[in-house]
Amino acid sequence: MCRALPLLAGLGLSIGAVGLGFLAGSDHLEGARLAARWTSRVGLPLFLIAYLASSLHQICRGNLTKALIRRRRQWGLAFAWTHSVHLVALTYFLAIAGTPPDVVTILGGGLAYLLIYLMALTSNNWSMKKLGAKWKYLHSFGIHYIWFIYLLTYAGRLGDPQMSHIGIIGVGLLVLALLLRLITRWRKKSSSEKR
Ligand code: HEM
Repeated sequence: MCRALPLLAGLGLSIGAVGLGFLAGSDHLEGARLAARWTSRVGLPLFLIAYLASSLHQICRGNLTKALIRRRRQWGLAFAWTHSVHLVALTYFLAIAGTPPDVVTILGGGLAYLLIYLMALTSNNWSMKKLGAKWKYLHSFGIHYIWFIYLLTYAGRLGDPQMSHIGIIGVGLLVLALLLRLITRWRKKSSSEKR
């Protein structure tokens, strides 16, 4: 798998999300709302690839899953890129809508952004070596915190009759991903204990 593929995918998806959002919106405000919404939506598959790469390789060992592991860092960086575009799109939308987000969203989402950028900045061999065990804690906590914010956002769609299908797909994918990760980690741990 080409090293640039994840970043090109992130670039294409986020530019597409902004462009299609403004094209699909009935007016400029609605276009900005759709751009904010879709820039986050396109980040989900990139996030899930980074989150599940090693679980998928355990379930199905092959060239594709091996390539996903080898390029896991790039998939994570592509996710950080799409969420940077989400940050720009949502700031623009909130500014023209004139509705500031509530404190809980700013604090909860703000922490997610802090973790996204800390993880992006430390996604290199030098930081891994320098931080030692702390690197693992940061990346493990960070990826699950992002998972949690995605889950909260999609769970919030469940009660909306027009968006409940999006909520069901989002929550379903995230819960399935967590279960897959837990099961594969547990199997790996128990097979290494038997040896
Ligand atoms: C302070 C930080 C954040 C703010 C203020 C914010 C705000 C917004 C806004 C205004 C929208 C469009 C809402 C609409 O559809 O009407 C949106 C969509 C969305 N945001 Fe964020 N966001 C933040 C951070 C995040 C983070 C860190 C994540 C995930 C890790 C995330 C996940 C989502 C998702 C999944 C959607 C679209 C849901 C769908 O598909 O319908 N947001 N956000």
